[in-house]
Amino acid sequence: MAVIGIMDSGCGGLSVFREIRKALPDERFIYYADNAFCPYGEKEPEFIIDRCRAITDFFISKGAEIMVIACNTATAAAIATLRAEYDIPFIGMEPAVKPAALGTKTGVIGVLATAGTLKASKYLNNRGRFEDNVRIEEQVGRGFVELVESGDLDSPHAEQTVRASLQPLLDAGADTIVLGCTHYPFLLPLMQRIAGEGTRFIDPAPAVTRQLLNVMKEKGIATSDENPGTELVCSGPDDALKRIFSLI
Ligand code: DGL
Repeated sequence: MAVIGIMDSGCGGLSVFREIRKALPDERFIYYADNAFCPYGEKEPEFIIDRCRAITDFFISKGAEIMVIACNTATAAAIATLRAEYDIPFIGMEPAVKPAALGTKTGVIGVLATAGTLKASKYLNNRGRFEDNVRIEEQVGRGFVELVESGDLDSPHAEQTVRASLQPLLDAGADTIVLGCTHYPFLLPLMQRIAGEGTRFIDPAPAVTRQLLNVMKEKGIATSDENPGTELVCSGPDDALKRIFSLI
């Protein structure tokens, strides 16, 4: 039996959870949305580390044996500290620069992420491995997290907001765009419509799921629970979380 803790600043991590649940249908999950403190994107790393510690303590008190930080911003700020302080394994998110760099035909890739992710050393190091070979254009998805948290995935306001950050990447010639924030895949139908079929978006959820399976195997963490299902927990109101959960 295994309990898997999955966290994000809000509903975004559900884009990762939906892939994980497909691969592990008989598992027990606790999903924690820290939406009382969402967005994390512009908060100080120390604040995010403290929130991640509190959530890790909560998961451990509920019997979690492994934790997925389904948030790029929190991974960049906190995963190294958490790994040093706790014994359970942590799986984190990272903008998928490598597959984008390998797949681009124009030689230009776009990265959409939060301000916190784009300035973190974890991301800067990763980017540094590829920028000799491809041009990497970055944009913060301004207002994207708020759209998803409010359940507005396809209104004229959503389109205007998404276009404002996406268009500069398209104008720069990016044919491959990395979704470097777990909220953004919920806006993918809208982004694909704006960008057209020739643009490829990379959602790292399948790769993270494969990594979770590998680590569970390596650590001997069982892959079925006598009490499968999902417990949703949040630090703020639960309406948005329930709404997005019903879509996945
Ligand atoms: N979903 C998160 C991420 O992957 C955080 C968004 C936010 O709270 O700003 O970065």
